[in-house]
Amino acid sequence: MTLRAAVLGWPIGHSRSPLIHGHWIKEHGLDASYEPIAVDPEGASAWFRAFKTHGLVGANVTIPHKELALEACDTAEDHARRLGAVNTIWLEGDRLCGTSTDGAGFMANLDQTAPNWRDHKAAETALVLGAGGAARAILDALLTAGVGHILIANRTEAKAQGLADWFAPAYPSAKITAVSLAETDNVAGQAGLVVNTTALGMEGQPPLTLDVGRLAPDTTVTDIVYTPLETPLLAAAKAAGHPVVDGLGMLLHQAVPGFERWFGVRPTVTEAVRRVALRDLGVLT
Ligand code: ATR
Repeated sequence: MTLRAAVLGWPIGHSRSPLIHGHWIKEHGLDASYEPIAVDPEGASAWFRAFKTHGLVGANVTIPHKELALEACDTAEDHARRLGAVNTIWLEGDRLCGTSTDGAGFMANLDQTAPNWRDHKAAETALVLGAGGAARAILDALLTAGVGHILIANRTEAKAQGLADWFAPAYPSAKITAVSLAETDNVAGQAGLVVNTTALGMEGQPPLTLDVGRLAPDTTVTDIVYTPLETPLLAAAKAAGHPVVDGLGMLLHQAVPGFERWFGVRPTVTEAVRRVALRDLGVLT
């Protein structure tokens, strides 16, 4: 019997997940499928609660259903509860289980692409730009990985402070400091790792204005934006000699745990699957 998985959202047309999972299904010769399914927000709660009736072994969940999918789960991993959202769900018997793989995807990409980032003398401190859902997942992953000091800079400073307050009780030995975007250049030199989680630098958006000249030498610079693949931030950091990590890798790595749960094979993020995504992005022909 074909094992069916899906990506669930509204709308769902833009998702690149079918391409990634489709590549791995073919690579491993599995009797499996992965399809986009648009789940109307009206009735979505009931749809998720009836998940076991839809003939799927599991799914990825995307906007706007990540929070209500968590509510429908019988079991969710601790960090997903902390984040208040899931992006990956699966059935264990009749029980719906969920997790969030964004943070693990971010860390796996960082470790694969810039394996020496932890060796930087300032790796104890990370500067995270943005305070939305992606920032939340990445903060949790960095704190879990033992980064002791996180500076969060956001246009709406109250949201950065809100994230700092939210995580403080879960990580009492870490220091989490909210700063305004205007202060970013002044604090950037403290960080061994910089992560842009804002939409700035994305096609159609203004670039992020961070003076990379203020960074300590060898600070790793990462961006979760992947359209364009080389954002103005990454281009400037690369030109200044910093190790850079683009956002496409996070997209690929966050897909790994779901595939393994649903189909029983752990896929690898290879150059081949990266090329499939790059072709779709129009970066390769
Ligand atoms: P995601 O789930 O991808 O994190 P999000 O929750 O909408 O998306 O968060 C978007 C982030 O990009 C926020 O930190 C947002 O800043 P605000 O909290 O001030 O809205 C940031 N962002 C988006 N557009 C921005 C802009 N033009 N200038 C500065 N920050 C911007």
